[in-house]
Amino acid sequence: MDVQSLEEEAQDAIAAAVSAEELDAVRVQYLGRNAALPQALREVRDKETGRALNEARRRLSDGIDAQREALESEELERRLSEEVVDITLPGAGRPRGHLHLITQIRREIEDIFLGLGYEVVDGREVETTYYNFTALNMPTWHPARSPLASLYLDDDTVLRTETSPAQIHTMEQRRPPIYMVSLGRVYRRDTPDATHVPIFHQVEGLAVDEGITLADLKGTLRHVMRALFGEDREIRFRTHYFPFTEPSIEPDVSCFLCDGAGCNVCRQSGWIEMGGAGLVDPKLYEPVNYDPERVSGFAFGLGLERIAMLRHGLPDLRQLWENDLRLLHQF
Ligand code: PHE
Repeated sequence: MDVQSLEEEAQDAIAAAVSAEELDAVRVQYLGRNAALPQALREVRDKETGRALNEARRRLSDGIDAQREALESEELERRLSEEVVDITLPGAGRPRGHLHLITQIRREIEDIFLGLGYEVVDGREVETTYYNFTALNMPTWHPARSPLASLYLDDDTVLRTETSPAQIHTMEQRRPPIYMVSLGRVYRRDTPDATHVPIFHQVEGLAVDEGITLADLKGTLRHVMRALFGEDREIRFRTHYFPFTEPSIEPDVSCFLCDGAGCNVCRQSGWIEMGGAGLVDPKLYEPVNYDPERVSGFAFGLGLERIAMLRHGLPDLRQLWENDLRLLHQF
């Protein structure tokens, strides 16, 4: 056997190996159990040849180790340069939710009234016809009692059509002085369009105390409208009719966009309608045993969707129900 040429051939094969697998194959081929060199070593009888073979085997084994290390460090270099983490890149943001626009406005209004010393009380979305209509002085023939206008669960139970029943519950449960607001959903049998949805939100306010007048109502609404729409807002009252207030009025706020000059939002009038209000009709005091000679009160109801629409120039109320994140993210 020509040890020298065998060794040269093996060293070339080692140098040519480009992976751990190839290198392994080379090792098996030249140093494995049945390879020529180890075989020869087992059969050798003279010292000279034995040493020569042994040294050749050691050099090949060293060569394989060296090549393995070279391949490993090459691989490490490659990974370091390819799999590098750029710590200057911005992290992957976690998407985060936020409160719905109506909830934001609801909380804002609650805060305004808490600042005035009002209580925030819960109402009921499912009401008896007594609380939703009768106790609010609505005659049996009132059109709001019709199942065409309101959503009945049975003959005596209705999804509340306004937050006003909270006035009755509150007066039943406590005595004057009362300063409360109650906010929540109301339901009406309306066909949805740009300015109507069958479920919307109101804030109900009720103040009952000694010596309450329309001036207190006006000052309170002015304060709220200034907090919502800016310091320069003014309030005006138009006479109206509600069964549970006497006198009844509809409050207008001076237009926050044109400041009264006239624009599209206020339909060139300079004023924007905000809801309903008035002095509590003394008829409501009878069933709750309040003395109309001693106490008087005001009540008001405002629509939260209307406030949202005005403030943000929303063209269509239905958008608030569509859960299109492109819209909701803006608030
Ligand atoms: N509940 C009335 C409505 O929904 C608004 C209102 C509330 C009017 C309180 C007067 C007093 O139209």
